[in-house]
Amino acid sequence: MKQHVLVVDDDKGMCDLLGERLQNRGFAVTTRTVPSEALELVRQEDFAAVVTDVNMKGMNGLDLCRSLLEIRSNLPVIIITAFGNMDTAILAIRAGAYDFLPKPFEIDQLVLAIDRGVTLAGLKERVRRLELVVADTGHFGELVGQSPKMRELYTLLRKISDSDAPVLISGASGTGKELVAHALHAQSARAHGPFVAVNCAAMPEALLESELFGHAKGAFTDAKTAKTGLFASANGGTIFLDEIGELPLGLQPKLLRALQERTVRPVGGNVEIAFDARVVTATNRDLETMVEEGRFREDLYFRINVLTVELPPLRARGGDVLLLAQHFLDRIAARAKKSVVGFSPEAAQKLMAYAWPGNVRELQNCLERAVALASFDKISVSDLPDKVRAFRSTQLVLSNDDPTAILTLDELEHHYVRRILEGVAGNKSAAARLLGIERKTLSRMLDRWNDSERPPKE
Ligand SMILES: Nc1ncnc2c1ncn2[C@@H]1O[C@H](COP(=O)(O)OP(=O)(O)OP(=O)(O)O)[C@@H](O)[C@H]1O
Ligand SMILES: [Mg+2]
Repeated sequence: MKQHVLVVDDDKGMCDLLGERLQNRGFAVTTRTVPSEALELVRQEDFAAVVTDVNMKGMNGLDLCRSLLEIRSNLPVIIITAFGNMDTAILAIRAGAYDFLPKPFEIDQLVLAIDRGVTLAGLKERVRRLELVVADTGHFGELVGQSPKMRELYTLLRKISDSDAPVLISGASGTGKELVAHALHAQSARAHGPFVAVNCAAMPEALLESELFGHAKGAFTDAKTAKTGLFASANGGTIFLDEIGELPLGLQPKLLRALQERTVRPVGGNVEIAFDARVVTATNRDLETMVEEGRFREDLYFRINVLTVELPPLRARGGDVLLLAQHFLDRIAARAKKSVVGFSPEAAQKLMAYAWPGNVRELQNCLERAVALASFDKISVSDLPDKVRAFRSTQLVLSNDDPTAILTLDELEHHYVRRILEGVAGNKSAAARLLGIERKTLSRMLDRWNDSERPPKE
């Protein structure tokens, strides 16, 4: 396929000459002597490159270049000019031109410039597509996991990362709430601003109040100087209030006021100080029940819970257990300078079968221990804690997230097999080994469930 090049020059003779020479070199060429017509044409047709003169009636070639790039940002524009000096060259590059050729030039030079520009534009387009694919195939910040539940989570996080509305992150202990709060900040427009984390359970009420809102000089005995609160320190960034369920009842109306007015009043002070921080909160408590029991203010609950992010327990994330295990193994082994690279199939099976009540943190701790104990290049069952080792697959929570659901034996088997398959990325031989059955037997089971065509992950 010929590359289609647009040549723009208000000198008809020059247009024709360049057109003819480029055609001889195998390009398809369209010429225009009126710059605004060239612009119109680029809106309609997909040119591989544009070659334009600088000094033209109607519109300067540099302005044309800028307008062309507004229409198609990766269009290679090559500027030619009779007045070739450094100033014009710099202006051309500033206007976003791919290259600049002073007249007179050899046609070879122009052909080379076009070819390079087209190649670069192609590469840029590929990178852009790859970035889209990567973004879509589930990544968000430092979070590891490819299970459907985690992919859903990434989609949600991507949607809300740029909003300024308060976010409440809920989930059981060790599910990654703090990591998600970090990631939300790092992927937001506020990423260059501060990330200030406060643990609401860590301090007595009075101290927490002055930490959060600051205090005036002389507010209390030890307040020798005025102090800026964490809300004000988080200006331009994010303030993360961890364990918000533990916030003392006495402070709750003050926090509510701060969130509504977007100002704080330092302890002992009488001026309101405006702050500009996104508020992210996290809890492993059931706030709704706390509201019903009068232990958490309902109005505050509604105020912090504008956007909700719920982290699934690790046992609902299928094969992510092994992905996370490998992720931690790599990091811990590198730090300990030990060459432990993977897991024995039996160890992997145990990791998949265990219910992980302490979620990702428990898995991380388990790996710390296993790497320390490992005597071979693979983690073996004997490197795992007793409770993981002793966990029999019959104790496995098999339905995705409802541990009380009653399943038939066939459903149970079906769930279990799918989960093992997920864990080994659909590798049937590896799954059969883990299950202790022949590969053929596994295929027959999958046929019976009509599962063989479907990829196990989706
Ligand atoms: N999806 C994940 N990918 C990689 N690491 C993770 C992931 N989830 C959690 N972690 C790691 O697991 C550990 C526990 O996570 P984190 O502290 O964020 O949990 P948490 O929900 O805040 O727990 P808690 O309720 O006990 O405070 C951290 O070291 C964190 O980096
Ligand atoms: Mg936490």
